[in-house]
Amino acid sequence: MDITRRNFVKLATTAGLMLTFGKVSAATNEKILVVYYSRTGEEYGLGNITKGNTAIIAELIAQKTGGDLFEIKPVTPYPDSYEECKKVASREKATKARPPFIGNVDISGYDIIFCGYPIWYGDAPQIVYTFLEGHDFSGKKIVPFCTHGGSGLSSTDQNIMLTCPTAKILQGFAIQGSIAQNNPSKAAELVDNNLKKLALI
Ligand SMILES: Cc1cc2nc3c(=O)[nH]c(=O)nc-3n(C[C@H](O)[C@H](O)[C@H](O)COP(=O)(O)O)c2cc1C
Repeated sequence: MDITRRNFVKLATTAGLMLTFGKVSAATNEKILVVYYSRTGEEYGLGNITKGNTAIIAELIAQKTGGDLFEIKPVTPYPDSYEECKKVASREKATKARPPFIGNVDISGYDIIFCGYPIWYGDAPQIVYTFLEGHDFSGKKIVPFCTHGGSGLSSTDQNIMLTCPTAKILQGFAIQGSIAQNNPSKAAELVDNNLKKLALI
């Protein structure tokens, strides 16, 4: 008998089995990947952080959906100093740089890709576009999410739509960096609310 993944999940549900098999979301039967870039070091208003704000949200999304995680790690790390990082980020934005990252992930087996990043000068860091331009998103769904200091998503969801025209862009969401960093219960609640809106939990 040919058992497709969807049928397997149905069978597993009927049999009352755990639905984390193959990291398929229990709510949708779709396979989820959470890709993100996040920086540690000196952050405006937050001091020296050892875990990035976006990383905290990315991990919550992966935990709650059963998704896999891929961190975009720059070949040349961004400076820990906030002022130095601003210089690099604004130069990269002005030149539309495409900084390389370490390793890669095969996205072909995933249905939904969460794409997370901090807002830098009203946009995603250029390295996120290196990732997006380097993959074929045909037939995939992308959920943009960001952490920020006040800008919200800015127009990053539209930028992602333009960068990945063959993907379907789902409702994105933005969480204040200070909430991600300092208020774990609020951060978890906001993630839950957004995953529920997407019918993913
Ligand atoms: C270079 C740089 C530029 C930033 N530009 C903005 C901005 O335009 N709007 C905003 O709301 N926050 C801005 N921020 C704040 C970050 O978006 C915010 O602290 C975010 O949560 C950091 O996430 P991370 O820890 O995952 O890197 C900027 C931070 C840096 C380092």
